[in-house]
Amino acid sequence: MRRLLDRQSLDHSGVVANAAMNRERRLSGTNSYAKDLGFEPLEVLSGGDAWLDLCCGTGRALIEAARLAAGRVEITGVDLVGMFDPVPEGARGLRLVVGSLPAWEPEGGARFRLITCVHGLHYVGDKLEAVRQAVSWLAEDGLFVTHLDPGSFVWESAEPAGKQVLRELRCQGLDYDSRTHRLSCRGPKTVTLPFRYVGADDTTGPNYTGQPAVTSIYRPL
Ligand SMILES: C[S@@+](CC[C@H](N)C(=O)[O-])C[C@H]1O[C@@H](n2cnc3c(N)ncnc32)[C@H](O)[C@@H]1O
Repeated sequence: MRRLLDRQSLDHSGVVANAAMNRERRLSGTNSYAKDLGFEPLEVLSGGDAWLDLCCGTGRALIEAARLAAGRVEITGVDLVGMFDPVPEGARGLRLVVGSLPAWEPEGGARFRLITCVHGLHYVGDKLEAVRQAVSWLAEDGLFVTHLDPGSFVWESAEPAGKQVLRELRCQGLDYDSRTHRLSCRGPKTVTLPFRYVGADDTTGPNYTGQPAVTSIYRPL
């Protein structure tokens, strides 16, 4: 019998709070957002654009981006654990906030030109609700990119659910690259998925990244 966790219990799980996880990616170079996203975030942003980074870790990449952008773009980072690096003077237009997905949402119906979640969804319980929300917050022609492991989805019966989940996400206009494990979406979407979230299991061990991750359990509707 699986022991299923609700969001509050998951937020306190050792797998999610794991101090050994990589929260310190930089903007560019090895161990960076550019490497894991496949593009330089600042290259897809123009003056006045907004970038939302979900599960931002220490916020190191965002702090570097804010310094380089010098107030040209608005950057918001959200993470469950407020282990943020100190924000130096000169990093204008940057906000690092503590929040838990998928409960957190942006203020005032804000829209974003870029929404990223770099290796963060692996630790979220209701991953599909987090994806549904993120793509609804995109600006016209905005871009959403996240890492996603189909192996982290199972049905209540314990059968793998990843194939059906990917098929539905693709039907709703999202793209998934199984080589890079990147799920992406261009432009805002209203996603309705025929699955109900049941709970999370933090005991299933490492996913493709090699780090212990959270398995998300759904029921088909
Ligand atoms: C592997 S780290 C990646 C951090 C950052 N994106 C990077 O690449 O450096 C995953 C992050 O997700 C955060 N996280 C886990 N569950 C979360 C949740 N439900 N809501 C918000 N952040 C969460 C963790 O605190 C951690 O900082």
